[in-house]
Amino acid sequence: MEVDKKDERESESSEQVVNPWEVSAKDGGKIDYDKLIDKFGCQRLDESLIDRVQRLTSRQPHVFLRRGVFFAHRDFNEILDAYEKGDKFYLYTGRGPSSEALHLGHLIPFMFTKYLQEAFKVPLVIQLTDDEKCMWKNLSVEESQRLARENAKDIIACGFDVTKTFIFSDFDYVGGAFYKNMVKVSKCVTLNKAMGIFGFSGEDHIGKLSFPPVQAVPSFPSSFPHLFPGKDNLRCLIPCAIDQDPYFRMTRDVAPRLGYSKPALIESSFFPALQGENGKMSASDPNSAIYVTDTAKDIKNKINRYAFSGGQDSVEKHRELGANLEVDIPVKYLSFFLEDDSELEHIKKEYGEGRMLTGEVKKRLTEVLTEMVERHRRSRAAVTDEMVDAFMAVRPLPSMFE
Ligand code: TYM
Repeated sequence: MEVDKKDERESESSEQVVNPWEVSAKDGGKIDYDKLIDKFGCQRLDESLIDRVQRLTSRQPHVFLRRGVFFAHRDFNEILDAYEKGDKFYLYTGRGPSSEALHLGHLIPFMFTKYLQEAFKVPLVIQLTDDEKCMWKNLSVEESQRLARENAKDIIACGFDVTKTFIFSDFDYVGGAFYKNMVKVSKCVTLNKAMGIFGFSGEDHIGKLSFPPVQAVPSFPSSFPHLFPGKDNLRCLIPCAIDQDPYFRMTRDVAPRLGYSKPALIESSFFPALQGENGKMSASDPNSAIYVTDTAKDIKNKINRYAFSGGQDSVEKHRELGANLEVDIPVKYLSFFLEDDSELEHIKKEYGEGRMLTGEVKKRLTEVLTEMVERHRRSRAAVTDEMVDAFMAVRPLPSMFE
């Protein structure tokens, strides 16, 4: 049985907190991802796995793999073993629609999932947990559903293939085979266990306690009879940031007891807040985040005003000592989104040795992010209500493995 090495209640009193609702480092420092791997009990994604991905897909691995943005996994090697023998899998990811627009951190799993879908030619289910946000953010049912549809447009704008992708809102889809699986999962998780994994307390309303099975069961193909009839053994791979790990620790724990395969995971680090790497970019603090709806002017102002710099206080000192790249947010952001490996290396060298100034790096970052956000805005503007309906229709996906 898979057991948490430590539970959430213990972690609150120790160093850093990483769970679906809070991400914060110890004493304003950085998130320690090695410790997290150890604490959660997942595995590090090493070079040999990345080489295997390259070999199996015959294409250069995504920049998020090459640069270690996706850094941890659970059983991803088993997914690749099976794929090598000709067995396909399906992808599952999601979004909790708590805000009108996505920020750049949210785009990371979706950009990466699109790459996986194309590279491995596999189907994808995307869960919009409007029920979760209704309960946690005190939104009305109607408002959560509206936000789910708005967020679906941003997700579709990432370029998913409608012939291989099913997007669903919990409020619309939960029922039937999906609900039967939820009940089976619920019966396997005690209150003590849920409190241990998620940190729930006696003050939390029971809606919160009832939610984890909803996020768990898309990991099982039998929850989607219109997609995977007779394919109960199809493996599932979940790309997400590591904050979602508790849900899937629970899922993996119960899967064998239900006779189901454990879902595999591929997990990313956090795109940090503008203010520094002690937390994640978060929709609850607008100044920490760049949104896909921000204008070129907003992006420039946010970067210039808030992006934490590792540069020195004066030009003279900077020329002498260079920037501290370890804490510098503009360089960190470029390492997520500047595709050109050689330009990134050049900037790191010149800036780290003091020949490039913070202003120049911020200017380049502003260009890169503005171009990306403009591109996203154009694709989103082309997403019609009919397209959203098409992605969300409960239907078979006949060409999903081609
Ligand atoms: P949500 O809406 O908080 O986040 C959506 C996805 O974005 C990831 N994420 C980030 N990744 C990198 N840097 C960040 N700063 C950052 N902030 C958020 C999240 O890990 C997530 O992958 N309960 C979920 C919705 C959900 C889900 C899933 C997510 C349902 N089923 C399966 C992943 C996989 C939620 O509220 O995500």
